[in-house]
Formats: sequence, C-alpha cells, structure tokens
Amino acid sequence: MPVQDGIAERIAELKARRHAVILAHNYQRREVQEIADFTGDSLELSRRATEIEAEVVVFCGVHFMAETAAILNPGRTVLIPDPEAGCPMADMITGEQLRDLKARHPGARTICYVNSTAEVKAESDCCCTSANAARVVQAYADAPEILFVPDKYLGQFAAEQTGIPLVLWDGFCPTHARLLESDITAAREAHPGAVVMCHPECTKPVRDASDAVLSTGQMCRFVREDPAREFIVGTELDMVHRLRLEAPGKVFHPISSRCICPNMKKITLAKVFLALERLQYRVTVPEAIRGRAEAAIRAMLEVAA
Ligand code: 13P
Ligand code: SF4
Repeated sequence: MPVQDGIAERIAELKARRHAVILAHNYQRREVQEIADFTGDSLELSRRATEIEAEVVVFCGVHFMAETAAILNPGRTVLIPDPEAGCPMADMITGEQLRDLKARHPGARTICYVNSTAEVKAESDCCCTSANAARVVQAYADAPEILFVPDKYLGQFAAEQTGIPLVLWDGFCPTHARLLESDITAAREAHPGAVVMCHPECTKPVRDASDAVLSTGQMCRFVREDPAREFIVGTELDMVHRLRLEAPGKVFHPISSRCICPNMKKITLAKVFLALERLQYRVTVPEAIRGRAEAAIRAMLEVAA
C-alpha cells in the first residue's frame, strides 16, 4: 500500500504502538498540525517537552526544536522526520564564535534565543524565546553587559522594550527578513481596517509599521481576545491555519506568499509515518553539552514561569 493511503489513520496506529507523542510547531503544514498531539510556539513546546511521559517524541519542526526536546528528555527517543530541517538563523553563530565573543566581553552575561544549537545554549547563561525575550533581559538588568545571540532583530526589540542596551550578534531569520514595510502598506490597502500583527524576528521598519509584535503563541491569544474581525498575519504562511482554528469566526490574510520557511515545510505526513515506522532520525546531544544547555533552558523557564 502506498504510504499516502489513509496516512493519518496509519500514523495514529503506529503512534499508539510506539507509545509516541507528536509535537508540532505553528509553522508546520496544515495536515501535520492536524495529526499532532500538541501544536505551539517555541516556549509552549519547550514547556510541553518538560512534561513528556511517552517513550518516543516525534518533533515536527526544525532541528533546534527537536534538540531542545532531547536536551530536556535524555532518557527518551526524540525523532525529527527530516534531518535536513534546520534553522539557518541557528547556524549563524557557532559555539566557538560565542566563546570568542565572551572572551572579548569579560564579565558579560549571555542570553541566547532558543533558535540556536545545543553548543551555543551550553555557552549561555539563559535562553529566551520570542515570547519572553524582554522578561529574560530584564532579569539580567544588573549585569555589567548582556550579550544577545543570534537574532539581532529580536535583540533590538527586547532592548527597545526594556531600555537595556544589548551587545547584538549579526544573526537574523531569512524568512522574516524578506518581509518589507511595503508589504504592510500593500496589505493594509488590500484589507482596510484589518489589524496587522508581525513576529519579533521582523526588521524594525516592519515592526514599527505593525499594530502588534507577537510570538506565534501570543498571536493565538491576541486574535481570540482582540475585538477586530480581520487580521493581517506578518509571519510564516502556514500560521494562518492555526489562527483559523483559534478564532473560527475571524478572517486572516497572510502578509506575503514570500514568507515561507522552507525548512519547516520539509516535514510531511509521509516522513512522519516513516519516522514512527523506522524510529528515524534520532536527535541526541552529547552529555557534556546537554547538561549545560539544559541549565540555560531551565533558567529561562524559571524566569518566565
Ligand atoms: P515562535 O516561538 O514565535 O513560534 O517562533 C519560532 C520561530 O522559529 C519563528 O521563526
Ligand atoms: Fe528559523 Fe526563520 Fe524558519 Fe523560524 S522561520 S525556523 S527562525 S528560518
């Protein structure tokens, strides 16, 4: 039987047989979001990863997200359905580059966005996500200097919100950096009166031209609570599926068809099926790095509990 036939049912059967749980990020394809046990933003997924009881975790997202689940669950099998699903921003700083930066700023504390490798997390005092960057920065307000890696735009946004200067690394998300202020102008003209939301990974002109700057999990809450009926969604294209489920009576317009994360799209139902059938591709982190990376993730969960 071809893998696609009745695939959602076959995934459900295999999942039960493997005692597995499927976690998915909000940018996953609609059909992948539909077979997941839990869908969320990076912070919600990290929290969820601390509560896992299943033997096998299939992580539908990009590599650093599966790695975070592996760091928090050393005794469990964590799988990513496509090992090539990476995050280019996470690869913009290596552990060695961060050690060099720290050597040039003795006494500084280091905050890393979770969109980073386990080795970079291990070199950091605390992680943050797009949902809690300002709160984490605020928690280190007394530090002589704060290094913020790798996302310069999220760092800039957290510095603006807190008034605390940060030493920024020159990293960025290629998907969000593609959005321009002119995309917002065009979307407002096409949908007059719609509320514009954008992600903190967007550039400053895009953030400034938006009505609200929100992580993907914050967008879910915002559209339920805000009285507006129509929204322009300034983030990855597939986010609109999640929002339509959150607020079924409301209307969502993706800001631009160019805002696609090709790595998030590498995960397909066929690959999820094969991941469960073959227990592939296992994500592991060497213990010497894992323990220190876990400390940085747990420091974040404590600050933003
Ligand atoms: P969220 O944590 O807001 O879901 O963002 C993750 C991400 O990779 C955005 O590009
Ligand atoms: Fe990385 Fe950007 Fe894709 Fe998020 S959208 S996973 S930051 S490349």
